[in-house]
Amino acid sequence: MVARIIVTFTTILMILNFIKLVQAESRVPCFFIFGDSLLDNGNNNNLNTTARANYPPYGVDFPGGPTGRFTNGRNMADILAHVLGFGNFIPPFASASGRDILQGVNYASGSAGIRNESGSHLGTCIFMDWQLKNHQETISRIVNLLGNKDATNVHLNKCLYSVGIGSNDYINNYLMPEKYQSSRLYTPSQYATLLTQQYAQQLKVQTYFAN
Ligand SMILES: *[C@@H]1O[C@H](CO)[C@@H](O)[C@H](O)[C@H]1NC(C)=O
Ligand SMILES: *[C@@H]1O[C@H](CO)[C@@H](O)[C@H](O)[C@H]1NC(C)=O
Repeated sequence: MVARIIVTFTTILMILNFIKLVQAESRVPCFFIFGDSLLDNGNNNNLNTTARANYPPYGVDFPGGPTGRFTNGRNMADILAHVLGFGNFIPPFASASGRDILQGVNYASGSAGIRNESGSHLGTCIFMDWQLKNHQETISRIVNLLGNKDATNVHLNKCLYSVGIGSNDYINNYLMPEKYQSSRLYTPSQYATLLTQQYAQQLKVQTYFAN
């Protein structure tokens, strides 16, 4: 009798969990993230740069310890994904594989900026134009996974895209006259215009389909 009750109870728990799983579907099917260290979740780990965070005390509050996130615990990309209802973290481009990329990819790279050279005194970083190239690669992989470009188009049109970039174009470029020319070439206002123009271009970059 006791065993029977336990079995029934377990079954109810399983059903409740199943309902929870079904309800846990995210609000968007996929989430793509571009940006700098505020959003990076491991893309710099294998780059030759001092802008890395895959060692303690980074990650002291993260399950499993350091991951390359530039914070104690979760970063903004993780929190956004959680709020959107994703049950897992969006994988970094550096290690994303297989069908995981259908849920989105995080391209963010610590020290990266809108301009290619921003942050380069720290080593290699994946600047915005490069992140966009990586997204192009993801799209080609999605075309392969879904079989054709129309299905890929339908899928990508449902995705959410988040970009957080630009501070390194100041703190690791314009405000470092000993390393970068930009403050001698442009007034603050000219530089701001240049950045917004380049960023506007980047947001409009045409992605093409391999198929
Ligand atoms: C890493 O970068 C430093 C500084 O730019 C350079 O001296 C070194 O040769 C690089 N190491 C590798 C393995 O590329
Ligand atoms: C920045 O890098 C991209 C991609 O590697 C390249 O196509 C572009 O010409 C570079 N821009 C500048 C201003 O060097």
